[in-house]
Amino acid sequence: HNRVFSGVQPTGNLHLGNYLGAVSRWVPLQDQMETIFCVVDLHAITAGFPDPATLRHATREVTAAYLAAGIDASKSIIFNQSQVREHAELAWIFNCVARMGWLNRMTQFKEKAGKNKENASVGLFAYPNLMAADILAYRATHVPVGDDQKQHLELTRDIAAKFNNDFAASIKELGLGVPNPTPSPETPEQVYFPLTEPMIAGPATRIMSLRDGTKKMSKSDPSDLSRINLTDDADAISKKIKKAKTDPDALPSETDGLKDRPEADNLVGIYAALAGMTKQDVLGEYGGQQFSAFKPALSDLAVAKLSPMTDEMRRLMGDQAEIDKVLKDGAERASAIAEPILKDVRRIVGFLELR
Ligand code: TYM
Repeated sequence: HNRVFSGVQPTGNLHLGNYLGAVSRWVPLQDQMETIFCVVDLHAITAGFPDPATLRHATREVTAAYLAAGIDASKSIIFNQSQVREHAELAWIFNCVARMGWLNRMTQFKEKAGKNKENASVGLFAYPNLMAADILAYRATHVPVGDDQKQHLELTRDIAAKFNNDFAASIKELGLGVPNPTPSPETPEQVYFPLTEPMIAGPATRIMSLRDGTKKMSKSDPSDLSRINLTDDADAISKKIKKAKTDPDALPSETDGLKDRPEADNLVGIYAALAGMTKQDVLGEYGGQQFSAFKPALSDLAVAKLSPMTDEMRRLMGDQAEIDKVLKDGAERASAIAEPILKDVRRIVGFLELR
């Protein structure tokens, strides 16, 4: 049974990369699989506690973005992570499954911790274990994300595989396993957790900064000109595209010609993702043209696609009660899936059941 899980951190400055690399790609999945979308507020405190009011605002804002982008609360489960206790509980168990060496290899920790690793929170280090718990508390099979989450999803698979192996006898004895879908002589016949498939595809898996085509577009970039925020109005969007860094050459007519032209590659990728085209299609239309012609076209497209969504986000943010109701209902539906899974996990591990 296929089940999708994904999430976004409520850390402010939700941007075009989050939309094109993740949220927009979730929308069609709602009609193909069971879908669960989380606002990961427990993750949002790992790099320092935001001001509590800011965190509450950002949690509602990400929810509003999901809804405005077309995530439908009647098709998908939409909730915030801290409302479902099972995430934190399974994360603790996974803290004891994952190895220090595995986490030491995580590039995102190295980037986020910066020079002073001694001063990073333990939560930032254990962050990927919580992410594995998010996914596996639902035994989710598919996770649609941007390219920067790839290493975390490999770790999620490693954790699932180690748990399945270490507890193979217990899983079998309790009759809680399912047949291993990828049997091999080294792996058990019965497994409890699936090995989740990452879904990282399309022209927008890694949207880059508008100021520097070698840096990822990110919520934390100090320059607001580096990203298009989902709260930007039409004027801001046009201005940022106009000011986006480019090289002086015309656009090539083949994608090969985008190599070593990171800024051009990025803008063509953004156009392709917004228009639902491939990069080659875009170059078929604009190859040979200058940025002075391409940028206004990109700007019009971005405004046309994003404005209705940002308007709807603003409308939703004016109705806090509606957002909170969506989250409350979602938390109940999420709990109904995660609770029995954690009950199984407690038995598999050997915790006493007294009630
Ligand atoms: P976060 O909040 O940093 O980003 C949310 C989603 O946006 C994608 N993304 C991008 N895609 C393309 N180009 C970019 N420049 C760009 N920047 C961000 C991310 O890949 C992500 O899909 N750890 C996750 C949140 C998380 C999660 C999970 C995801 C927690 N638990 C379980 C999936 C499943 C994160 O920090 O995403």
